[in-house]
Amino acid sequence: MATERWVSAGTRTPEEEQASWSLRPTRLGEYIGQRELVERLTIAIQAARGRAEPMEHLLLHGPPGLGKTTLAHVIAAEMGAAVYTTSGPALTRAADLVGALTKLKPNDVLFIDEIHRLPIAVEEFIYPAMEDRKIDVAVDSGMNGRTVTIRLQPFTLIGATTRAGLLSAPLRSRFGLVHHLRYYPWEDLLEIVRRSARLLSMDAEPTGLEAIARRSRGTPRIANRLLRRVRDYAQVKAADRVGPRVVEEALALEGVDTLGLDELDRKYLRVIGTTYRGGPVGLEAVAATMGEDAGTLEDVVEPYLLQVGFLARTRRGRQLTADGAAFAGVPAPAAPDAAEPLFSDGRPA
Ligand code: ADE
Repeated sequence: MATERWVSAGTRTPEEEQASWSLRPTRLGEYIGQRELVERLTIAIQAARGRAEPMEHLLLHGPPGLGKTTLAHVIAAEMGAAVYTTSGPALTRAADLVGALTKLKPNDVLFIDEIHRLPIAVEEFIYPAMEDRKIDVAVDSGMNGRTVTIRLQPFTLIGATTRAGLLSAPLRSRFGLVHHLRYYPWEDLLEIVRRSARLLSMDAEPTGLEAIARRSRGTPRIANRLLRRVRDYAQVKAADRVGPRVVEEALALEGVDTLGLDELDRKYLRVIGTTYRGGPVGLEAVAATMGEDAGTLEDVVEPYLLQVGFLARTRRGRQLTADGAAFAGVPAPAAPDAAEPLFSDGRPA
């Protein structure tokens, strides 16, 4: 069975969803970090409002937990419109898409999560919807076959994906705004947990909050989750204030180390380090050894390990760096392959 992973940014339980809603920013002015994106959106929204038009279609890509869904809600709020959310795999037939699009009112937002998993048959219908606000639906077949055109209200499509590389070029090119969300520097995460602690009426020391921010793997969703675990621990252990000691103890109990790595990260590094002698090794082989899904490893484990410099993606597979090997307690791979050029978050350049 796959390792339970509560620090995973990728999995959201209903409770998690509920708890995190109260902490999410609702307007752009409250949004911390991703300054470049916030600035681009501020301009796009103001311009659209000035013209009484919907904001341009927006594609957000980047690792999970960085705020793609939150941004869709924030944008809709700024536009004074509603947001409807769905996902690529949920839109199995063209009729599902028609259903989602026809309930939109002017300037509403349709948010499609995991848009890279949109079936090809559905994708074709989305092009004219995005470009000309219409969908051509085939009714009847054979001799009586004809096409009915459904006109749509002006709307904004916001697509989110952790795998921009899997998006088809025609789909990608239909987004007027494309933005890659980056991991948050810990200083931004500190501001986020400070705000959350205030909203949760926590009595927390700045050094305690800093310890949480530094263990949050660049991810607000993880930061807020760690904060809630620390809050529970402090309450039950009757610690008066949340200081660095309480954070240390609470997170050690959860298996989160000082870098924010959890058991799944450590297992991944251990498997490459011991079973595959530091690599290079193919992702599928690592996944099979661990009994995990390769896609999960690629989306939620590897990006941060690449970011902290523990892992290299080479032409022959995954390989531990000297730092990664030292962390895993194994000898460094003899001759590390030249790593492929990567963006800091692990996307191939
Ligand atoms: N909560 C989660 N992400 C946030 C962000 N980027 N700004 C403010 N609060 C947040």
